[in-house]
Amino acid sequence: MSKGAKGTVMTRLAADDIAALDPYRFMAVIGKRVIHPGGRASTESLLARAGITHGTRVLDVGCGVAATAVEIARRSGAQVTAVDISPLMLERAEDNVRAAGVADCVTVAHGDILGLDVGDGVFDVVIAEAVTMFVDRRRAAAELVRVAKPGGRVLATEFFWRSRPSEEAREIFLGQVCPGLEFDTVEDWVQIYEAAGLGAIETETGPFEMMTPRGFLADEGVARSMAIMGRVAIRPAHVRKMAWLMPRMARAVPYLGYIVVAAMKPL
Ligand SMILES: C[S@@+](CC[C@H](N)C(=O)[O-])C[C@H]1O[C@@H](n2cnc3c(N)ncnc32)[C@H](O)[C@@H]1O
Repeated sequence: MSKGAKGTVMTRLAADDIAALDPYRFMAVIGKRVIHPGGRASTESLLARAGITHGTRVLDVGCGVAATAVEIARRSGAQVTAVDISPLMLERAEDNVRAAGVADCVTVAHGDILGLDVGDGVFDVVIAEAVTMFVDRRRAAAELVRVAKPGGRVLATEFFWRSRPSEEAREIFLGQVCPGLEFDTVEDWVQIYEAAGLGAIETETGPFEMMTPRGFLADEGVARSMAIMGRVAIRPAHVRKMAWLMPRMARAVPYLGYIVVAAMKPL
């Protein structure tokens, strides 16, 4: 067991389980909060287009450890439903929400982007940061649109290749680091969200910086970055996982970027 953000007891994984984690759940285990390719910069870009105010009903799908849900609640006091498919993420999301003192605004629940347990047209704003690309992209996009109100906004962050990757970089990233992940170009993403029924699509792109030293510090701040490094250093299983992950990421990073897609469900 280990202590969460407010001293709550968190599940402690065995060394073999840590070795088998995907990079995103590993980031959550070591205490990283921002777990998507564009970091806080892409979240800012997304929120600037979301138009969230106190009365907005927000759904954050694939919320991870609820960093964005907490940020929305802090800024606007809006009601946010934050769902994820992973019990590990949900445990950490609940802990972060409690620690941030926003449990009156943020509800954390299990949810699958391919079949959300939500009626049609319920939410004013639907967000999915770095989720659609892990599953059937067209089905996931359609589900995000289904649960948005007519006139509501759907916003997503995705990976894309900023430049054509070398065969080696593509194999390392999609074959080893994130098996099953699927993404292509900006035009592909626009086409997928258009086909799902969205209009007024805007996009913004930028470099992948989540795992660069600059991006890490910008996302987590100095104190949390130090705490994360400390959590890595004290467990050999964490050190081994980092030693496996970082050189592979470094091969792919020059080719990777993020795209924010912001769009409206027609009235
Ligand atoms: C790259 S992380 C992004 C987490 C969070 N959105 C963020 O930006 O920090 C991807 C998240 O999607 C979740 N996920 C993967 N497949 C999912 C699915 N079918 N339904 C809901 N969430 C899913 C993972 O558990 C993980 O938390």
